[in-house]
Amino acid sequence: MERTLVLLKPDAVQRGLVGRILGRFEEKGLKLVGLKMRTFPTELLEQHYDVHKERPFFGNLVKFMSSGPAVALCLEGKDAIAVVRRLVGATNSREADPGTIRGDFGMSFSNNLVHASDGPDTAATELALWFPDAAELSDWEPADLGWTYNVAEELS
Ligand code: CMP
Repeated sequence: MERTLVLLKPDAVQRGLVGRILGRFEEKGLKLVGLKMRTFPTELLEQHYDVHKERPFFGNLVKFMSSGPAVALCLEGKDAIAVVRRLVGATNSREADPGTIRGDFGMSFSNNLVHASDGPDTAATELALWFPDAAELSDWEPADLGWTYNVAEELS
């Protein structure tokens, strides 16, 4: 099982799409392990987007991400990082495939509703940054786990 970080950005909150976007992940069969909502501090966002700090859009990105409440999620599942990236769609919402979250709900490159970790190393770093306290993450077993997956073939 893999864990990944997802951020529902301030545009998702302002547009009332948090429930529908979270529902996409839940419906797929991803397990919700962590969830918190707040206006996250600039310092955290600067750290999160450190890889982009030399890019011209960095200032606007951090400003946008700290402009209002956002939601941080930790999702778990088999190959969760790649599965979530496919559900989210291409960075530019106008080019994202229909059926993806950005493709169905977005029109913008910058206000693209969701951030999702892009690989195992990034997921580990980002989860440590956004959920530094292990008590914020819930270990639990979904009652339908054996129906979501074939236990003998996929989980043993
Ligand atoms: P995200 O998946 O959160 O990762 C980095 C974010 O930077 C990306 O989504 C976009 O919202 C934003 N971004 C990336 N490239 C650009 C760009 N060229 N102009 C504006 N925003 C960008």
